[in-house]
Amino acid sequence: MQTLATRDITRISLSQEEIPTRWYNIQADLTEPLPPPLDRPTPLVRARRLEKFLKTPANIFYKAEYLSPTGSHKPNTALAQAYYNSQQGTQRLVTESGAGQWGSALALASSIFNLKCRVYMVRVSYDQKPGRRTMMETYGAEVLPSPSKETKFGKSLLDQNQDHPGTLGIAISEALEDTVTHEDSRYCLGSVLNHVLLHQSIIGLEAKKQFESIDIKPDIIAGCIGGGSNFAGFAYPFISDKLRGKSDTEFVACEPKAVPSTTRGTYTYDFGDTAEMTIRRRCSKRRERSPKLRV
Ligand SMILES: Cc1ncc(COP(=O)(O)O)c(C=O)c1O
Repeated sequence: MQTLATRDITRISLSQEEIPTRWYNIQADLTEPLPPPLDRPTPLVRARRLEKFLKTPANIFYKAEYLSPTGSHKPNTALAQAYYNSQQGTQRLVTESGAGQWGSALALASSIFNLKCRVYMVRVSYDQKPGRRTMMETYGAEVLPSPSKETKFGKSLLDQNQDHPGTLGIAISEALEDTVTHEDSRYCLGSVLNHVLLHQSIIGLEAKKQFESIDIKPDIIAGCIGGGSNFAGFAYPFISDKLRGKSDTEFVACEPKAVPSTTRGTYTYDFGDTAEMTIRRRCSKRRERSPKLRV
C-alpha cells in the first residue's frame, strides 16, 4: 500500500547482503516448453467467429502461416533457397521486396545459413514501412531503397526523377543487375517460379494431414494470389488427389481487382522486370501490356 512517506522516496537501494544471487528463469514455470522459432507445422484453425459473421452453415478453416517468425508463408521457400545456396558455396543472396514480407523472410533465412543478404526495397514502401526495414537489418541484411544508386539501371531512373517512388519491376531489375555483376552472389525470388511453388507445398501437405486427423475432406480450397505461391502451395497437394480421381474438391483463387495476374490482360509472354533482363522469347502475337508485370 502506498503511503505519503513511500511516495516521497525517490531512490531505493539494496544493501550488499540483499543483492540477488540467482537469476529467475521463467521457462521453469511455463506449463509447456516454448516452441522453437521455426516450429512446424502451422496450425489449421477453425474460424468460428467468421462463420457466425457470415451466417453460413459451412465450416471454415484457415492455415495460420502468419505464425512464422516473419509473419507470412515466405520463409517456407526462403529457408530452402538459402539452404541450397549455402550448400553450393554461394556467399551472398540478392533480392527485391515490395512491402517487405519476402525481404524479411530471406533476411531471416540468410542469417540462419550465414549468408550475406541485400534487399532492394521499393522506395515508397521503404519510406512507409520502417519497421520492415528494421526487421531485415536486425537479421543482418542490407536494405536499399529502389531505385538506388547501386546499379546502372537505378541511377538512370534517378537521373530522370530524383523522387522516383520505385516499383517491384524496377527493384527486380536492380537485384538482377547486382547479381550478375557480383560473382559470389545469387538472385532469389519469393513467388511465381516453379521451385517456389514446390517449397510452398508444405502448406498443403500439412493441411491434408491436419484435415485427415479430424476426418474432414474439404469441399472448397480457397486462397489469395499475388504471384501464386501460397495458393499453389496450399492447393496443389489437394489437386493431386483430384487429378487421381480421389476427390471432387473445388479450388478458388482470389486476386485483387487493382492488380489482376490471371483474370485480365493478354495471355502472352512478358518480362518479369522493368529493364527486361529476364528471358527473352519470341511472341507470335503482338505483345500487349499485362496489367500486373508492366510497370
Ligand atoms: C502475407 C502474404 N500473402 C500473400 C502474398 C501473395 O503472394 P503469393 O501469391 O506468392 O502467395 C504475399 C506477397 O508478398 C504476402 O506477403
